[in-house]
Amino acid sequence: MTQSPGRLLAASLEPLTMGASPLGKRPEIGDALADALLSGRFHQIDTSNNYAHGNSERLLGEAIARLGGLPYDRRIFSKVDPDPETGVFDADRVLRSFDETKQRLGLDTLPLLHFHDPYGLTVAEAMAPGGPVEALARLREEGAVGAIGIAAGTRALMEAYVRTDAFDAVLIHNRFTLVDRTADQVFTDATERGMAVFNAAPFGGGILAGSATRGVKYAYTEPSPEFLAYLERLRGAAADSGVDLAAAALQFAIGDPRVHTVVVGVSSIERLQALDGLLDARIPGEFWDAVRSLGTPPPSPAD
Ligand SMILES: NC(=O)c1ccc[n+]([C@@H]2O[C@H](COP(=O)([O-])OP(=O)(O)OC[C@H]3O[C@@H](n4cnc5c(N)ncnc54)[C@H](OP(=O)(O)O)[C@@H]3O)[C@@H](O)[C@H]2O)c1
Repeated sequence: MTQSPGRLLAASLEPLTMGASPLGKRPEIGDALADALLSGRFHQIDTSNNYAHGNSERLLGEAIARLGGLPYDRRIFSKVDPDPETGVFDADRVLRSFDETKQRLGLDTLPLLHFHDPYGLTVAEAMAPGGPVEALARLREEGAVGAIGIAAGTRALMEAYVRTDAFDAVLIHNRFTLVDRTADQVFTDATERGMAVFNAAPFGGGILAGSATRGVKYAYTEPSPEFLAYLERLRGAAADSGVDLAAAALQFAIGDPRVHTVVVGVSSIERLQALDGLLDARIPGEFWDAVRSLGTPPPSPAD
C-alpha cells in the first residue's frame, strides 16, 4: 500500500523545526545565523517567501551555496505568499511565488510548500477550479514539491482548510501553548486525515520565554487583562516548582501526541544554542499538575 504524502512527511519529521521568520531582520547577524541554522543539530527549517521581505530565503540560499549545496540531512520548508504589491493570491501568484523561492534558495524542489496566510480571500475562492490551491496541488503532482500544507493562525479558517482534505500538512501558530488550546480541533481533524501537524510559536511569539524584545504581546497582539492574569498564575506555578517557563513552554508544545513537530523562532545563535537546555530541562510532575489545576486558559487574544 502506498503511503499518502501527509503520512510520509509526518513519519519523517523531527520534533523541532527551526523557525526562520526572524532571519534577515538583523542584517548584521544574517550570514552567521543562516550558517548556524544549516549546520546545527536541528535539521528542519521553516521559512516563507515573505519573511523579512524575502531576505530569510535569500540568506538561506546564500548559506546553501557556501556549503556547495543543501546537505543531504537538511530540509527546508517554505510557503507561497500573496503578491506583496497587490495582495493578489491566485494560481499565477502561487507559481510566481514558488519560482522566487526556488531562485532565492537555489533549489529546484522542496519537501513541503505551504499556502500561507490566505486572509484576503475566502476558502471557496481559494479552492475553486483554476484557483491557487489547485495550482499548489499541481506542483505536488509534477513532483516539484513533496507535500502541500496550509499555514496560518485563526482557528475557524484553519478548521475550514483542514476539512477541505486538500492538504497534506497543517501549520498553526500560537494556538497550542501553555496559555492557549484553540488549535485542539484542528489537531484532531488533521490527525484523522493523516496530515502532518506543525505546532508553531511555542512561546506565543516570545512572551512565554521572557523575551525582552517582543514586549508583552501574545501572538503579536495585545493580551486581555484576563489573559495576563492567567499568565501571572502560570508564572507563579513555575516559580513555586523552580521551573524555567521557556523550557516548560517548549516541552508542552512538543508533548501533545498529535503534534509531529514544533516550529520555534530562532532570532540569534545564542537562542539556537539555548534550545538543547530547554529540551533537556527536567520539569517536575507537580508543575504539570499545577498547570492542569489552572483550568482552561481564557479565550485566545489572537482569535
Ligand atoms: N503563518 C505562519 O505560517 C506562521 C506564523 C507564525 C510563526 N510561524 C513560524 O513559527 C516560527 C516561530 O514563531 P515566532 O518566532 O513568532 O514565535 P516563538 O517561537 O513563540 O517565539 C520566538 C521568540 O521567543 C524569544 N525567545 C526564544 N528563546 C528565548 C529565551 N530562552 N529567552 C527569552 N526569549 C526567548 C525570541 O525572541 P527574542 O530573541 O527577540 O527575545 C524568539 O524570537 C516562526 O519563525 C515561523 O517559522 C509561522
